[in-house]
Amino acid sequence: MANLQEMFDVRGKSVIVTGGASGIGRAYAEVMAEHGARVCIFDLNSAQLDAVVAELGRNGAQVWGQAVDVADRLRMAEAFDAVAQRHGRIDVVFANAGIDAGPGFLSTTGARIPDGAIDVLDDHHWDRVIEVNLTSVYTTVKHAARHMKATGGGRIIVTSSIAGQINEAIVGTPYMPAKAGVDHFVRQMAMELGVFGILVNCISPGPFMTNIAGGRLKIPADRKAFEEQSLIGRIGDPEDIKGLALYLASPCSSYVTGSQMVIDGGSMHRIK
Ligand SMILES: NC(=O)c1ccc[n+]([C@@H]2O[C@H](COP(=O)([O-])OP(=O)(O)OC[C@H]3O[C@@H](n4cnc5c(N)ncnc54)[C@H](O)[C@@H]3O)[C@@H](O)[C@H]2O)c1
Repeated sequence: MANLQEMFDVRGKSVIVTGGASGIGRAYAEVMAEHGARVCIFDLNSAQLDAVVAELGRNGAQVWGQAVDVADRLRMAEAFDAVAQRHGRIDVVFANAGIDAGPGFLSTTGARIPDGAIDVLDDHHWDRVIEVNLTSVYTTVKHAARHMKATGGGRIIVTSSIAGQINEAIVGTPYMPAKAGVDHFVRQMAMELGVFGILVNCISPGPFMTNIAGGRLKIPADRKAFEEQSLIGRIGDPEDIKGLALYLASPCSSYVTGSQMVIDGGSMHRIK
């Protein structure tokens, strides 16, 4: 790689971002589009999707969207095929859509939260969190692999969480095994797909200011608790994640697979 442009070159790449109408996924879509990729966003929230597609496409960037629930397997297959049809191939897939899991069993002040207790946890809630945060990653990787094998390779980048590696009492219980499962699945997929030229990695964010949990991190008490975990005194802004996304999607990371890349302002070192 001769120069900076070649190292980070994603021009013309065909990219899918699930959950790209907000927060971290929107930042992935934006950085890819800003650097000349052709981006398709999948999102459940079609109003927000239309707004983000219009915003990101303003300066001639190639961005479009499809209203997709990542938990709908049939719809996912169709949506992947539609991207392959329109772009001719699929090069980079961000498996990013995810939801919060409600309150943890402790509040930020250390008080027990009755609704977060395991003995009253709603079974449908458990199922939906696992379906969106874990099973949909399986569905996304499955269709990405189906298309990438046919064209000789690609990049799969999954948004996990530091919750996959450490336990947090203030985060809803189903979120923990979902993200730990994602981490293990990513390593398994890196093992299986490397021979086909498909690199599979995880981005594991700590707290980021997004709309997850109805924007919980915008509530001062919650925000303060998460800020105090960070070694640099602040929570992440979606802008902070763009560099890592571009790195994992570009030639720069051609020897990286099966990795969990933590981006958390050092929070993991402080969480008890
Ligand atoms: N924000 C954080 O602090 C944080 C920390 C660690 C990991 N994460 C992970 O980052 C990812 C993105 O979350 P975010 O914080 O940007 O949240 P967000 O709520 O701002 O954005 C998530 C997007 O995903 C979409 N979405 C949700 N369910 C969907 C479904 N079933 N099908 C299609 N789209 C769906 C939403 O409509 C939304 O546009 C998630 O996987 C989340 O678990 C977030």
